[in-house]
Amino acid sequence: MAKFIIQGQNKLRGEIAVRGAKNAALKIIPVALLSDETLLVENLPQIEDVDKALEAMASLGAKIKRTKKDACAIDASAISSADLSARIAGRFRAAIMFAGPLLARSGAASFFSPGGCNLASGSKRPINLFLDGFKKFGASIRDEDGHFFLRAKRWKAARIFFPIVSVTATEAMMTAAVLAAGTTVLDNCALEPEIPALADYLNQQGAKITGAGTPRIVIQGVKKIHAGKFFIPPDRIETGSFALMAAALKSPLTITGCQPEHIMVLLEIFRAIGVPCRWGRDCIVIKAAKKIRPYSIKTHEYPGFPTDLQSPYTLLMTQAHGSCLIHETIYDRRLLYVDMLMQMGADIVMCDPHRVVVNGPTKLYGKKLVSPDLRAGLTLLLAGLLAEGQTEIGNIYQIDRGYEDIDGRLRALGAKIKRVND
Ligand code: EPU
Repeated sequence: MAKFIIQGQNKLRGEIAVRGAKNAALKIIPVALLSDETLLVENLPQIEDVDKALEAMASLGAKIKRTKKDACAIDASAISSADLSARIAGRFRAAIMFAGPLLARSGAASFFSPGGCNLASGSKRPINLFLDGFKKFGASIRDEDGHFFLRAKRWKAARIFFPIVSVTATEAMMTAAVLAAGTTVLDNCALEPEIPALADYLNQQGAKITGAGTPRIVIQGVKKIHAGKFFIPPDRIETGSFALMAAALKSPLTITGCQPEHIMVLLEIFRAIGVPCRWGRDCIVIKAAKKIRPYSIKTHEYPGFPTDLQSPYTLLMTQAHGSCLIHETIYDRRLLYVDMLMQMGADIVMCDPHRVVVNGPTKLYGKKLVSPDLRAGLTLLLAGLLAEGQTEIGNIYQIDRGYEDIDGRLRALGAKIKRVND
């Protein structure tokens, strides 16, 4: 198992370009199943989760061709299977995105309970919103110990009100609806920018979707969807993580190829806490703060404070002068990593599984740690860069799942990180 060895307390400097968004890449790949034409995906991040999605596509019989390092063509005109194996679906949550297009196309889909970061209480993150939605489109569902078999004789429009705001459920129902007979209405939809990006692409290919990016999305079913080019938008979570890294390390950094308007909440907080930053259409320039002020946050669906930036923000607050409250509202198990920051010297009080108080500033010291999940794993890596001495992080597969060549890109800024294969 590979690990990172980090020598901390090194200032970083320079420019870093943001890669394509993981959570947009994972959603566009299964969309190829809606058409018998070839989908060309560009600005594809080279990360483990994308490899898994392409592997899933290939396992169904689609032909995949890498046209460039960061682009691929997916031809799903002939598929030989509608079954996603446990080996594949069990490894990433977005595997659930394959079910709607498969059902719309061939009236059948089967998959094992999808995997991904274990962030909810219970052994796996729930998929009830998806199963309830597919039923409304006409699917019958058989659950054999977590192996789901879905069948639909007729794929018809549905009215769905999401009891919980969910990004993937919104995207999954939207892609399920484009070929359903009639008009589908989705209410209480997520607003994340990946959703209108996906709707724009589908509309260019003949779909009739209105309202994406608002709480109500209306989809008029069509008979045929074409395929074309999809350029994956920059990853707003990677953008925010680099911005938080620069702020925590008090390192001047220019982040390029990003969309600052997608992380306005963070940039506004930077203003409030004294991190000097300015931004243009596609770049952010961050300078070293003299003194960071504490600022409490509560994670919220877009455009609120993203849960995916909660852990690097908590790390930044360990460097602020004073106390603040971090309230994680989306997931039950997304604060467990604070124990590792405490082992490194952070002064954090766990109030309950959703809330911690961070008292700063504290000096951090290098430790031997294991990455618990993707976002917390990156935070530990950043904590290692901040800490005095050497930090070792195991299970870095969890970090590679979502950040392309993270060690190489940070080394180019002056970070001392070694990747060691045991
Ligand atoms: N939920 C249910 N039932 C469901 C689906 C979700 O109860 O069937 C609950 C979840 O347990 C959670 C809430 O709804 O409490 C929101 O979860 P959501 O389903 O929106 O999460 P997701 O769609 O699975 C996406 C990202 C997450 C990101 C959240 C932000 C993807 C593949 N994942 O997750 O990204 O944290 O939106 O809301 O797009 C990550 O990249 O590290 C990551 C976890």
